Amino acid sequence: MSELNNIALEILQNGKGILAADESTGTMTKRLESVNVSSTPENRLLFRETLFSSSCMTGCIGGVILYDETIKQKTSKKNKIPELISEMGAAPGIKVDTGAKVLAGSPDEKITEGLDGLRERLKEYFKLGAKFTKWRGVYNITKNFPSKLAIQSNAHALARYSSLVQECNMVPIVEPEVLMDGEHSANECYEKTSEVIKKCFEELILHKVDLTGIILKPNMILAGNKSKDKISNEDVAKLTLKCLKNSVPSEVPGIAFLSGGQTEIEATENLNLINKHNDTNFIMSYSYGRALQQSALKFWSKDIKDIEGTQKIFNHRAKMNTLAAQGKWSKDLEI
Ligand code: 13P
Repeated sequence: MSELNNIALEILQNGKGILAADESTGTMTKRLESVNVSSTPENRLLFRETLFSSSCMTGCIGGVILYDETIKQKTSKKNKIPELISEMGAAPGIKVDTGAKVLAGSPDEKITEGLDGLRERLKEYFKLGAKFTKWRGVYNITKNFPSKLAIQSNAHALARYSSLVQECNMVPIVEPEVLMDGEHSANECYEKTSEVIKKCFEELILHKVDLTGIILKPNMILAGNKSKDKISNEDVAKLTLKCLKNSVPSEVPGIAFLSGGQTEIEATENLNLINKHNDTNFIMSYSYGRALQQSALKFWSKDIKDIEGTQKIFNHRAKMNTLAAQGKWSKDLEI
């Protein structure tokens, strides 16, 4: 087993999943302002430190994706954030892309940037304790999109990123996110997601990325949020599994889904069904942002000093998702 394969397995084994706490300052500001908390570096740190010191970090959360600001911050007890996460038993990770920008040549689509100077930034993050990284490509479904250009250029960037990350002895999370926004059917999501993922692996292989040392972070197969097409959770699970079976090489050790705008319960229920039906060798777990943090953030915003109450809510969500990652969740376990 390679060292990178070990790291990937340690993050995802036994139902463990990933907390995506890598919102950029802009996104975090929107999240905090939506619950009437001002977005200062201190408040951003306080909420995140509250999550990172929760008991579920041992046993449920295998890795935390950080943003550049957070990986350089210190806790109230003056510990470094990556040290706190490691002490709790999880691996610190870092988002390294610099965001999705307008794609020249197809200006209604996006290309993710951040390759220039990446090798040097990776060395710095490695020294700060990062064990894994994340890069997100984003694709819209419409009648004409995603275009071949968007599919090709984002796959190329994801592969160049992954290759640099492995050179620096960290595990790349490869995140091609086909967005839920739009009127498309679940079948269209299936078709486009399959095309996107296949192209990503074509490029990863071309760039000699060790597929045993990556984690794939895809969307589930869902109908668009403005679609007339309604799809059952059972069918979400079946279509998602079919898509991944047909497009992901068997060497990949683990798949950790993004929640992508699903409610907390939906994201848990769908993950649970995926695992109930999982007839592959892939670990199928979670790498959720909103679906792990939403209720905790809402509670915290009412009294930002109530650490214990906030942690209780976060611990519950993490536990539910860890059960779902083993196909052992049921609705009556929800409080
Ligand atoms: P969501 O689970 O909120 O979609 O966030 C996951 C993530 O990291 C998106 O890049």
